[in-house]
Amino acid sequence: MTRTILRRTDFGPDFVWGTATAAFQIEGATISHGRGPSVWDTFTQKKGAIKTGENATMACDFYHRYPTDLALNGQMGFNAFRFSIAWSRILPQGAGRVNEAGLAYYDRLIDECLRQGQTPWVTLFHWDLPQALEDRGGWMNREIVTWFAEYVAVVVKAFGHKVKHWLVLNEPSAFTLLGYLVGMHAPGRRNFRAIPAVIHHAALAQAEGGRVVRSLVPGAVVGTTFSCSPVEPMNPASKRDQQAARRADALLNRLFVEPTLGLGYPTAELSFLSSMKRFIRPGDMEQLAFNFDLIGLQHYFPVVAEYSMLVPYLWAKEVSPNRRQVPVITEMGWEVHEQSLLRIVRQFSQYPGDHQLFIAESGSAFYDRVEQGQVIDTQRAAYHVQCLQQVRQAQAEGIPLAGYFVWTLLDNFEWAEGYRPRFGLVYVDHRTQHRIIKASGQWFRSLLCGD
Ligand code: NOJ
Repeated sequence: MTRTILRRTDFGPDFVWGTATAAFQIEGATISHGRGPSVWDTFTQKKGAIKTGENATMACDFYHRYPTDLALNGQMGFNAFRFSIAWSRILPQGAGRVNEAGLAYYDRLIDECLRQGQTPWVTLFHWDLPQALEDRGGWMNREIVTWFAEYVAVVVKAFGHKVKHWLVLNEPSAFTLLGYLVGMHAPGRRNFRAIPAVIHHAALAQAEGGRVVRSLVPGAVVGTTFSCSPVEPMNPASKRDQQAARRADALLNRLFVEPTLGLGYPTAELSFLSSMKRFIRPGDMEQLAFNFDLIGLQHYFPVVAEYSMLVPYLWAKEVSPNRRQVPVITEMGWEVHEQSLLRIVRQFSQYPGDHQLFIAESGSAFYDRVEQGQVIDTQRAAYHVQCLQQVRQAQAEGIPLAGYFVWTLLDNFEWAEGYRPRFGLVYVDHRTQHRIIKASGQWFRSLLCGD
């Protein structure tokens, strides 16, 4: 791939530059102003659920520090800020009674974004399902489609006059598969029999959420986001590995975007989906489709797959970067590859439709050290340079990309990993809440502000 010098203007005048965050990972204040508990509050209390035993009751204290944190975002040159709304701050029981204090908080946050000249991009669901709804079956219960639509309507009626950019779901394959099958994320279930229903309800809610936003917000730009990784077979000459890679690709990349685009579920590759028939009602296949304006790609690493007889139904497993002796591996154990983002962008650009693609999250966790009040995170800066080179290459190939959101503004609560993996452009000392813009953040400032 040819490397060019990166200049802001080359990305286009309308290209959006932002950072992305999620409520549970940064806000803290989990019992303030009537917020109800979410599945993540419950999960973090379970022994052994979080590697470090930590919780997010304080997180980055963004709930109180948002004005100064947004100022840091602006200082680095970003003109957009992506955050999510905690459903249980708005509806503590998930449905029914609205908590005005929760709405008031997001109203202040949105106003502050606008005052500071940053476009708010609001994610409606970033994994923190109200515990009260999980107690009624959560994503296993079809009623969730109605609960979700009700919640979305409350939020967009309150803020639709000032927020135009709405993202319905964040990475549906993560909260369904990790939450209800692998048990590594909240609510920590390992329920293979329930998984087809969980997937179907999330896919229905995704489209329904899109419809609610579009019908209630004039001029809305409606999107949703997907985790995605280009998948290759370990041994390209092996038929079994090739098929394993195809199945892994269907699970990781196609499962949620294809029904949205009206292409149905990838059932030919994923035989376990056959039991989904029981949950599909007449009209559902049409209801699954929604013509989003934006499709957000969240990409972190490539996947190499091989045949495995040990993983029922999928008959595939990932070959770890360690086993493949990959030169650069992040604190998450993820491979850094200079073509990975480009490959997945190319793959998604093949889909029909008049939606635009954008990078809804891109980032890396590396070990950071504070020395003389500074954090010189050369590897993270290099990571973003490499990703942005790929964005330029994609644009040069004629693939229009609408923007790039860095994951993330602040070092934060990385779910089951606790606070250890640091993805932020801003270092956070979680004992004192002191912030330091890292060298990677300064690098963005020079790219975006030209100094
Ligand atoms: C994707 C998720 O949306 C985000 O919450 C998470 O922290 C990052 N990936 C990094 O793992």
